[in-house]
Amino acid sequence: MGVGMGLNLLLLLAMVATNILSLYHLLSTTRNPSATSQTTIVDHSPVPDHLLHQLHTIRATITHLTRSRSSKPTAEDAPPPPPEDLLLYARISPIASACSDHPELLHRYMNYTPFHPCPPDSLPLAESLILRGCHPLPRRRCFSPSPIPKTLTDPISDFTRLLSFGSALDLPIPQLLRLSTSPIRLALDIGGGTGALASLLRRLANATVLTTTMNLGYPYNEAVASQGLVPLHAPLQQRFPVHDGALDLVRAGRAVNRWIPTPSLEFLLFDADRVLRAGGLLWMDHFFCRAGDLTGIYSPMIGRLGYKRIKWAVENKTDAGGLRYGEVYLTALLQKPPILPTKV
Ligand SMILES: *[C@@H]1O[C@H](CO)[C@@H](O)[C@H](O)[C@H]1NC(C)=O
Ligand SMILES: *[C@@H]1O[C@H](CO)[C@@H](O)[C@H](O)[C@H]1NC(C)=O
Repeated sequence: MGVGMGLNLLLLLAMVATNILSLYHLLSTTRNPSATSQTTIVDHSPVPDHLLHQLHTIRATITHLTRSRSSKPTAEDAPPPPPEDLLLYARISPIASACSDHPELLHRYMNYTPFHPCPPDSLPLAESLILRGCHPLPRRRCFSPSPIPKTLTDPISDFTRLLSFGSALDLPIPQLLRLSTSPIRLALDIGGGTGALASLLRRLANATVLTTTMNLGYPYNEAVASQGLVPLHAPLQQRFPVHDGALDLVRAGRAVNRWIPTPSLEFLLFDADRVLRAGGLLWMDHFFCRAGDLTGIYSPMIGRLGYKRIKWAVENKTDAGGLRYGEVYLTALLQKPPILPTKV
């Protein structure tokens, strides 16, 4: 730190000195009555020898300092240069601004030997970046480990909950299909874990469901893929990679809850609205928040969508966390207006 700062200070002083000299030179010549215009002053007026000498000395010092800085960079001097492939990729495709906010992680992620196996810590690094909003990640030119696909067993509870009615908060798929006034062909399951909803909707309705999921602590993406379903490795704050009005159903599972900052949640809900077709369904499945916030914040927020309430069930969250914070669960099935309201 000390050496780097010392050099920087020297450079700064040298530059200031040069500028003062130039200014002095300019001032002394503008006072010269024989000068006709500003542009010719510098070229024709004589510069005192002692000033010229000082100027040369200062320039030489700057050149020397700059050379020694670039030839001998120390760890404290400046951050290491970005990895080669990051620079190459950044020229091809723009990188999300959130990526640049985490240069240390980004450089580690992009630091690899091209055309060789990727470093072993790639997945945790990738998820750290994705969760910080660096998505899509820059592409890389290394070989990712590709484990042989194996069928991962789905936690049975997810299936059971989606098939049977255990509490008012549940919405079994057969009931969902009956409540829907039009066929569900294409859907999005936000934070869909192992893909239970996608699996059931394929079986019961021949529907295609995209499941967004991260791998936090469990190979959720592999579990979804192993059933021949589509896992989207995307964080909650990411714009859904689907065109406007393309989907019949969007479900927000338990991952969508009061831990999401309110503005982020509002953007998420409006993005769900964007991808839903007119008459499509938004299903908030076991959304939890403090009881007071449901009436104060979340009901009004959901209300701003102007959706019809097909189901609205609220119950106390009775686990340890729920009791401690006075939380409630909300399960809501909401329908986007079939015809968009006309602007007045
Ligand atoms: C799903 O599609 C297959 C083949 O078209 C058809 O035989 C089956 O009845 C469909 N199932 C449902 C639940 O729509
Ligand atoms: C839910 O919790 C609140 C506050 O803890 C309590 O007043 C209320 O009776 C509970 N409701 C039910 C249905 O248990």
